[in-house]
Amino acid sequence: MKILAIETSCDETAVAILEVKGGAKAPKFKVLSHALHSQVKIHEQYGGVFPGLAKREHQINLVPLFLKAIKVNPKSESRNPKQTSNIKIKKIEKVLERETELLTRFPALYGKKRPKIDRIAVTTGPGLEPALWVGINFARALSILWDIPVAPVNHMRGHFLAPLAEGKKIEFPALGLLISGGHTELAVAKSPMSYKLLGATRDDAAGEAYDKVARILGLPYPGGPQIAALAEKSRKLKVESRKEFILPRPMIHTKEVEFSFSGLKTAVLYMVQKVESRKLKVEREIIAMEFEESVKDVLVAKTKIALQKTSVKTLIIGGGVSANTYIKSALLKLAKEYGVEFLASSKKLATDNAIMIGVAGYYAKTRPLGMIKAEGNLPL
Ligand code: KG4
Ligand code: ZN
Repeated sequence: MKILAIETSCDETAVAILEVKGGAKAPKFKVLSHALHSQVKIHEQYGGVFPGLAKREHQINLVPLFLKAIKVNPKSESRNPKQTSNIKIKKIEKVLERETELLTRFPALYGKKRPKIDRIAVTTGPGLEPALWVGINFARALSILWDIPVAPVNHMRGHFLAPLAEGKKIEFPALGLLISGGHTELAVAKSPMSYKLLGATRDDAAGEAYDKVARILGLPYPGGPQIAALAEKSRKLKVESRKEFILPRPMIHTKEVEFSFSGLKTAVLYMVQKVESRKLKVEREIIAMEFEESVKDVLVAKTKIALQKTSVKTLIIGGGVSANTYIKSALLKLAKEYGVEFLASSKKLATDNAIMIGVAGYYAKTRPLGMIKAEGNLPL
């Protein structure tokens, strides 16, 4: 089976083509192509993702990325719209004018025979709805143009199942710690199709906390890698922390599988203000190290509770923050203590991408086009 996957839920536009062999019991995923465009440079000035801009950027970049993924060179083929099939254009016009406009800008698509694709997997949530609709409308238009069914995909399931794209096997039931810019969740999957949420963050997500703390420290967006680098430097140099830099570990002593990172960010803000008011130097390296230590401690404590509450065979970590080597190694250690398999993706697959959407799309059901809708708060 060949899957065309489309991701536009946040600030990454991505298209992938996956080939799946081996049947439903033991599928093997092969990435045939992956084209990704990150909008980080554009959102940098806002210190976070600005939805209207994200939508515009997805609209600009989706079709060129798609052509790259299906290996059509728009310049090498006819650009004369008259040579394209009117019937097909009419059909698409019915779906959406904007998408028609996008597609007619690339007449190469019409000349092209229907590619050998069995389904289109598109992220329908959670995420920014204006951004999600860009991918959804495009998937719908392609579905009509080429008569290919569409499977709506939950972005968080994509993060959960991402290790499958790198040849790893998941032994179920599996506990997933999903730590991204928009979400922080612990969930158990009985199978790739069945999930139960154990708990989530009450306010900010872990990645969001990284981004906000980075902003307080005057570091560019996205803050995760920036803070991680500073913290790593301090640990390497064995920089001693001091009393005035100790940060709270929000909710660490509660029994609930729940997180709260908003207070941690505020604690950093007050700390910086206090240091500045005394005309002292803001020691960013120490703050970054302390902040990362706090996030790590809380993530480990809550994952530990979840492991005690469940009897899983595997611990999977996914989402942008799972690219953090310090946090990753702390969770690997925890998995070893509990005798469960540990799975994490490479950096490329930990942050947003279309490959993981293709993997989750393999397990998702195809639906009538009218049912493929953006759901900003889609639960796992
Ligand atoms: O999963 P993702 O790419 O997008 C969402 O679905 O939100 O996650 C992005 C988040 C950002 O907040 C970014 O700062 C964070 O992941 N991130 C990191 C690291 N790399 C990315 N956080 C900590 N350490 C990293 N190395
Ligand atoms: Zn994500």
